[in-house]
Amino acid sequence: MPRLAVLGHPVAHSLSPAMQSAALREMGLAGEWTYEALDVSPEDFAKVVCGLPEGGFAGANATIPHKRAAFEIADDASEAARAIGAANTLSFDSSRIAAENTDAPGLIAALPERPSGQRALVLGAGGAARAAAWALAQEGAAVWVWNRTRSKTERLARELEARPVEPEATHRSLQVGRYQIIVNATSVGLEPSTREGADLKHLHLDADSLTDNHLVVDLVYTSTQTELIRAALAGGARIVEGREVLVQQGAASLRIWTKREPPIETMRRAISLKTETGAVEDDG
Ligand code: ATR
Repeated sequence: MPRLAVLGHPVAHSLSPAMQSAALREMGLAGEWTYEALDVSPEDFAKVVCGLPEGGFAGANATIPHKRAAFEIADDASEAARAIGAANTLSFDSSRIAAENTDAPGLIAALPERPSGQRALVLGAGGAARAAAWALAQEGAAVWVWNRTRSKTERLARELEARPVEPEATHRSLQVGRYQIIVNATSVGLEPSTREGADLKHLHLDADSLTDNHLVVDLVYTSTQTELIRAALAGGARIVEGREVLVQQGAASLRIWTKREPPIETMRRAISLKTETGAVEDDG
């Protein structure tokens, strides 16, 4: 009976066990496969992962703070994991560990259309931003990146076919009119903002400039709409919320492990149920 898990620290509030278990049930695999949450400290990560195959695990998702370590421990890593430098999906097979990054295909699958030929602005330069920038560039979008810490913007741009941008000196905001796709891959919005407009200020976005020409993706997911999503909707933009990307990355992981097509709608429902009943939001 193959076991699966999400490895995180903390992990108690992860939405993945509810989402993945619902999918396994719907696929008729609940009697064969299990999916659980394992709280693993960074110090114990390597030891725990190496013991998983013996414990009957066929694979695991890695979430904060383990995505880099998951990539580093693998014997084989996919092109996406290598380029991004992080992995969220491990598979154990005949004493080898394979690493994949399904955050990248998960983002693309969550978009209403292929981003090829579009201009995209990615906000952030952490692991989530690297996955977004790489995925969009792979799909043929032209990618610009802004991050609060400039040195990290430049590193990401150099390594991942993106261009660095800075807010215009005169308006102190990013010129969103130049882009069709805007992706928030920072953690801004995760905590409820203290003041209306504070999140958009942190992101240097001029809310009034968001229009129906934009597709706005917020990788942050909370039980209520983020300020960025609210501003995007108010401007008439199309939106993709973080929970849809979560569902799609989870589905991509399940596809790798089970080689079967996961039930996306069931996974969406499981997430809604969990967030509506007051679960705290968490990555993965
Ligand atoms: P992840 O792996 O999920 O991407 P991370 O590596 O901790 O997480 O990245 C968090 C991102 O949110 C970073 O880009 C961070 O900017 P810095 O590189 O300057 O730290 C960004 N971030 C966090 N708080 C922010 C804030 N108040 N304003 C702007 N950006 C913020």
